[in-house]
Order: sequence, then structure tokens, then C-alpha cells
Amino acid sequence: MRIAFCCTGTEPEPWLQGLRAALPQAQVALWQRGAAPADYALVWAPPQLFFDEQPQLKAVFAIGAGVDALLKLRLPPNAALVRLDDAGMAVQMAEYVCHAVIRHFREFDVYAAETRQGQWSSHQPRHRVDFPVGVMGLGVLGQRVARALSQFEFPVNGWSRSPRALDGVRTFSGPAQLDGFLSSSRVLVNLLPLTLDTQGIMNRATLSRLLPGGYVINVARGAHLVDEDLLALLESGHLAGAMLDVFRVEPLPPGHPFWQQPKITITPHTAARTLRATSIAQIAGKIEALERGGPVAGRVDAGRGY
Ligand code: NAP
Ligand code: GLV
Repeated sequence: MRIAFCCTGTEPEPWLQGLRAALPQAQVALWQRGAAPADYALVWAPPQLFFDEQPQLKAVFAIGAGVDALLKLRLPPNAALVRLDDAGMAVQMAEYVCHAVIRHFREFDVYAAETRQGQWSSHQPRHRVDFPVGVMGLGVLGQRVARALSQFEFPVNGWSRSPRALDGVRTFSGPAQLDGFLSSSRVLVNLLPLTLDTQGIMNRATLSRLLPGGYVINVARGAHLVDEDLLALLESGHLAGAMLDVFRVEPLPPGHPFWQQPKITITPHTAARTLRATSIAQIAGKIEALERGGPVAGRVDAGRGY
């Protein structure tokens, strides 16, 4: 069995070593132009040439959760596309989002600014009931985030494409229930995949439906958000702030107005990182399952876009 590794922006050697240790029967190689045909591939932002030269692939494993960029390429017709299925990302996403929600709810940025000035003043406690959190996307990551938020006793709303039932979460589904979901939420967390249906979904019309003083946490993809609309609603005061991990152009260009908006907290696409050892173990297990003719979790439905 041959495995090709073609991941832009990733140090290949530790991956190659890890894959060889996990699958000693396999020949694992860093892809180069004109390389021998492989059975399986691990990819992140590969060039189209990689797939053009490897039409025989049986399965392509993304070393991330989101596959929007891969679905823009022409993939080998018979290859299954498989995304990382948690692999240690969900708990990181829960940490990031709970941090953002709690930091906003408990006014920790305000306290940090005040204490830096030598000011000792405690504010009136705020009430969780006034901070319902809406999680858009109840998949692998969104469900984990919704569960973690409900552990902190925030009222949690969730929105998905198909109806879902989740303990402690008020669920909504489909375009018809989007308005009800938004107008019941003050904090909005985006964990949708980027598809034709979801691009630009956080815009002036949808963000205006959030309860006044809304807070936006975007941890999915930059193209879900209409940047100018967020800025306008922050300036009008309808939104109190935002914490953004993903951007239309990454790295966020130096002149982008987000850098200058004090109500926006920026992180450099780091909410949930690919963990190498866990990911290798998961992918190796899936390759073995496919070789036995068994099912694997995390298969992408290209027609659906995620
Ligand atoms: P997932 O398991 O594929 O779940 C997607 C969820 O979104 C599902 O609940 C799905 O509904 C819902 N959805 C899809 N299209 C919809 C639509 N048109 N309307 C309403 N709901 C819709 O995805 P995931 O693993 O949780 O990951 C979500 C995204 O997070 C990834 O695609 C990636 O872009 C992003 N991500 C970011 C980072 C980071 O570090 N910032 C790290 C990892 C992932 P159904 O339940 O009905 O299918
Ligand atoms: C990161 O953004 C991922 O999709 O894994």
C-alpha cells in the first residue's frame, strides 16, 4: 500500500515518521511531481496537479475538519474524501468558545483595562439568563461547544440544517427557523461549514436580529461573515463586540479595519489546531478499516458541501 503526503504549510517529516510507525506495511512518501501512484493521500491545500496526477486514489484524508478549499478542486472520481473527525479539535474549540463567552459575559477585558490603571471597582453581576448563546452548526465541533456552554449554565440555542435534539440545548433547524434562533440569542457562535448556502450568512440582516448588545464569535471561516456589516453594527452599538479567529484573507492584511476596531479581538486561526499524533492514529485506523472494506466516520458528502 502506498500513501502520499501533500500538505502545504506543514512540516512533513514528523508526519511521515508517524505514519510509517502507525502503518509499517505501507510505503509512505512526500508527494513530488511525477511520484508513483498512491492508494491513499493525506492533504491540506494541495495543488490541483496533485489530484490530476493521482486519479487512482481510493481515499483522500484532509488533515483538518473544514473541506471547503478541497471541494473547489477536481478530486479523483472514485476517491472517498474524509475529514478529521474531532481528533482532539472539539475540546480545543470548546475551550476557545467558552473562553470568549465568559470573557465577554464577566467583563474581564473591562476589569483588565481598569486594573491596569490602578482602579479597584467591582461591577454589578450580570445574569446568564440575559446572555443566551446561539451556536450555528451542531456538527462534531458545534455539539461539543454547545454542551460545554450548557455546563456553565448559559441558555444555549443551536441551529443546524436538519433537526437535531441535544440535551440542554433549544434547537432550531433550516432557513425557516433561522430568524427565531437569532432573535433568541445574544451571543452568536459560528461553527458552520463554508458552503454555497452558508457563505455570507453573518450579514447586516442576520446580525441585526440578535438581541441588542450582541457578541459575535467566528471560528469557522472568514467568508461566513460580511466584514463591513460587522463593522457597521459595532459602530451603531447594536453589537457589543466580536472575537474572530478566521478571516476572508489569512493572514489578516495589515491595513484591514478589524485591526483598528477595539471591540474586535483577533486570533490567528488557532481555535482548534490539528494535533499530529491523534490525527495520524485516526487516519491510520481509517485506512485499515477501508482496507478491510469497513465503514469510516467523517466521509464528506460533496453534493452537500461538508
Ligand atoms: P460538521 O461536523 O460538518 O457540522 C456542520 C454542522 O453545520 C452540522 O450541524 C450541519 O447540519 C450544519 N449545517 C451545514 N450547512 C448548514 C446550513 N445550510 N444551514 C444550517 N446548518 C447547516 O462540521 P464541524 O466539524 O463541526 O466543523 C465546522 C467548521 O469549523 C469546519 O467546516 C471548519 O470550517 C471550521 N473549523 C475551524 C477551525 C479553527 O481553528 N478555526 C478548526 C476546525 C474547524 P446537519 O447537522 O443537519 O448536518
Ligand atoms: C481548520 O480550520 C480546519 O478546518 O481544520
